[in-house]
Amino acid sequence: MRKKIVGSSWKMHINSFDEASTLAQGIAERLGSEEEVDLFILPAFPLITMTKAMFYGTNIKFGAQNIAVAEKGAHTGEVPVKLVKELECAYVELNHAERRSMYNETDEMTAIKVSLCEQYGLTPIVCIGETSEDIERDRSRLTLRTQILWALENSSPAFREQIILAYEPVWAIGQAESASKEYIAKTHKMIRELVKADFNEDLSNKIRIIYGGSVSPETALQLSDVEDVDGLFVGRFGLQAENFEKIVNNFKGESR
Ligand code: PGA
Repeated sequence: MRKKIVGSSWKMHINSFDEASTLAQGIAERLGSEEEVDLFILPAFPLITMTKAMFYGTNIKFGAQNIAVAEKGAHTGEVPVKLVKELECAYVELNHAERRSMYNETDEMTAIKVSLCEQYGLTPIVCIGETSEDIERDRSRLTLRTQILWALENSSPAFREQIILAYEPVWAIGQAESASKEYIAKTHKMIRELVKADFNEDLSNKIRIIYGGSVSPETALQLSDVEDVDGLFVGRFGLQAENFEKIVNNFKGESR
């Protein structure tokens, strides 16, 4: 049985301590004792210590939006995995479409970062997803398969089960609405089948696949009963505590 999980990356939308403390406090008050669903928040690096303090004693976990591709050394401006671990982060987001398109991150870099996460005991949330060009060229399946292989191949079987795959169709990020329920259900099923074919059935049954891309309270309601959707990865619509709470509760099916 896969436990549901809902998280949010604040990207650089939250860019001050003031905003971050208001939001973290609101989330802690509303969702701090949540048990049915795993919860996580990924703030910008300098906000991690403050977020950690705000979530102290709650069930809400926190993590980083990225790590450096190397463990240590001359990597100006990068953040080492060791510090992320020492800050007691639980999760690290990897391979987001914005990292790929704006900062030239590759599948190979993601694979190295997944290995660093295993080494340091952090759970990677690896984003995968096709672009609209992939759809036009009829190669969405190939793109997803390639990204899944890079995400999972270098890990031990035990660690693979912990990795979270975040399906984020690139064309659905930053839009007014998420992809349709049917599209998401179909693709999550395909992702699970790809994991089964390239790895094994046990892993495909255990690995959590979450959806991201313009997730709103409405999306959460629609996806709450979709078998292969184990969670939600929320962006802009989770930047108000009340909305984030609504998304969590809708996904639990509480408002039905
Ligand atoms: P969005 O971001 O919800 O603002 O589209 C989602 C994401 O990139 O994970």
